[in-house]
Amino acid sequence: MTRRKRAKVFVRTTRPEDFSAIEEMSRLIYDEQLAWSREELESHQRLFPEGQFVAISRKTGEVVGTAMSLIVSWEDYDIGDDYIDFTADSTFRNHDPNGRTLYGAEVFVHPNRQGMGIGSALYNARQELCKRLGLLRIRAGARLPGYDAVADRMNIYDYVREVIAGRAYDPTLSFQLRQGFRVIGIAEGYLAPDLESRNYAAVIEWLNTRVATEQEIAQARERYLDSV
Ligand SMILES: CC(C)(COP(=O)(O)OP(=O)(O)OC[C@H]1O[C@@H](n2cnc3c(N)ncnc32)[C@H](O)[C@@H]1OP(=O)(O)O)[C@@H](O)C(=O)NCCC(=O)NCCS
Repeated sequence: MTRRKRAKVFVRTTRPEDFSAIEEMSRLIYDEQLAWSREELESHQRLFPEGQFVAISRKTGEVVGTAMSLIVSWEDYDIGDDYIDFTADSTFRNHDPNGRTLYGAEVFVHPNRQGMGIGSALYNARQELCKRLGLLRIRAGARLPGYDAVADRMNIYDYVREVIAGRAYDPTLSFQLRQGFRVIGIAEGYLAPDLESRNYAAVIEWLNTRVATEQEIAQARERYLDSV
């Protein structure tokens, strides 16, 4: 069995001097329309600095990945709402310190450094933040970049079930499931233009069992797509 190479990184909260690297990296991953701008990154920093993370290479000091979050009151949204709703058009102006849900708005790793454990390190930091703030859960919309290639022979629900069962591999959702997330729904037209995902996203949840009541845990189980 071949072992994948692990990157030596540490994770810390984002600083203004990291913005250029984040902007540049986002252009390597997304179309220009979905790339991050300095104004957006400044807005996140102003509203919720604790929720913004970068992974730094121990060897070179470079920024090699990032994760961005905000807090929302889930009651203000519907499960089928899109990325613009959940992030106030990428500005996080809807950040609500009184909410109980940490919303994962972004995670990406430099294309040359993916598959080396950096995404997992960023997710750990986010889960630690959720625990530290005593929030109930993390939710996010997971892109489904493997869907376009099979869309002519599978509907989106079948695809997501295949990925959950481990019979299909999705570059994003397989990673999120590996981090302990469960799928609670599928949103249409979540993030556009995301042609690889055909604009679909899996709505995913990670429950903070340190604060969830037995009733909240039972209710969460009923929502999971793989339990119905
Ligand atoms: C999704 C993403 C953030 C994952 O980050 P990453 O650093 O590549 O992920 P990791 O190396 O920490 O991998 C975590 C798990 O995912 C799976 N995985 C990730 N890359 C893999 C690869 N190339 N081959 C096989 N499995 C892989 C493995 O199960 C791995 O578990 P392990 O570490 O126990 O072996 C990254 O691939 C990325 O930036 N993708 C593009 C942007 C994107 O779609 N972001 C999500 C927005 S919703």
